[in-house]
Amino acid sequence: MKRIGVLTSGGDCSGINATLKAIVEEAYKNNIRVTGFLEGYNGLVNDLAIELTPMQVSGVLQRGGTILMTSRCEEFMQESGFNKALKTLKEEKIEGLIVIGGDGSLRGAKKLAEAGVLCVGIPESIDNDIYGTDMALGVDTALNIITDAIDIIRDTASSHKRAFVIETMGRESGYLALMSAMASGAEAVLIPEIDYDIDSIMKRLKSEHERGRKYSIVVIAEGVKKTQEVAEKLKVEAGFDTRLTILGHIQRGGNPSVFDRTLGMRMGIKAVQSLINKKSSVIGLQGSDLKNVPYDVVFSNKKVFNEMMLEFARLKSR
Ligand code: ADP
Ligand code: F6P
Repeated sequence: MKRIGVLTSGGDCSGINATLKAIVEEAYKNNIRVTGFLEGYNGLVNDLAIELTPMQVSGVLQRGGTILMTSRCEEFMQESGFNKALKTLKEEKIEGLIVIGGDGSLRGAKKLAEAGVLCVGIPESIDNDIYGTDMALGVDTALNIITDAIDIIRDTASSHKRAFVIETMGRESGYLALMSAMASGAEAVLIPEIDYDIDSIMKRLKSEHERGRKYSIVVIAEGVKKTQEVAEKLKVEAGFDTRLTILGHIQRGGNPSVFDRTLGMRMGIKAVQSLINKKSSVIGLQGSDLKNVPYDVVFSNKKVFNEMMLEFARLKSR
């Protein structure tokens, strides 16, 4: 194998640059050159290729974002765009491709693998909604950012005896909301995966206030789509002095945590080794090991919370 390609696609996260560094260094160790395609699948469709050398990935390990840039590329989803991507891979003499991205990007990788491209996927999404890996890249950093933010908000909330509604990211997944609620001792959490009872939450929070609690923190996943409504209810119906904080994209940037740096580097090394061993698959963290998870397994299963976390969610959502 003489040359491999790599691209980063979809929503970004922290830890991607560490992964890119490991990919380039592992490839060079095996006398393989690396082409980086800029802007996700757009770089394949429109041949935006650059040479990635160890020099270019030095000093990037600790930086958030992706030096290769990312995008959402409609054209790649069309037959003509997909064929252009295949043509680019041929013209650039790419013998194996690594796609770093979330659910959608990995579906694209699966399609490439089905078209005969040796293609390995690295799961990256702060939502942690990809089956086959206990943790996707970027989740741990996002959780640390959210937990730090809630700790900060708690200080001011308690000085004013206020209720705070805090919205985390998570389009369809409550993972960030649930784990950060547990890690920060939030009084209530609402996630898309389970039913909640806002009246019962309000009753509970009111009775806790009456017994002397100085503040209440309610964490809501973006996917519940009820953040404003809940804040309004707490204010108007329960009479809390309520404030609302939408954490937004601060959850997607920043220096990666030690966990994400090392996870990214390990996944990068494993991805290159998987290409050398001709294993088209998704790299999954299972326990403490990295596995080659077949694309079919990733996409024919749904990631679910374990019973302990579900029980915690039920307790905090009524
Ligand atoms: P993420 O990878 O973060 O989930 P998206 O769902 O937006 O982000 O997907 C990123 C890109 O991956 C899309 O813009 C598209 O180019 C490609 N993609 C998404 N879904 C598919 C699919 N089913 N088949 C082929 N390519 C896809
Ligand atoms: O999929 C990851 C994610 O961070 C979601 O939690 C969020 O809804 C979405 O990306 C936002 O993406 P963007 O602002 O890039 O469209």
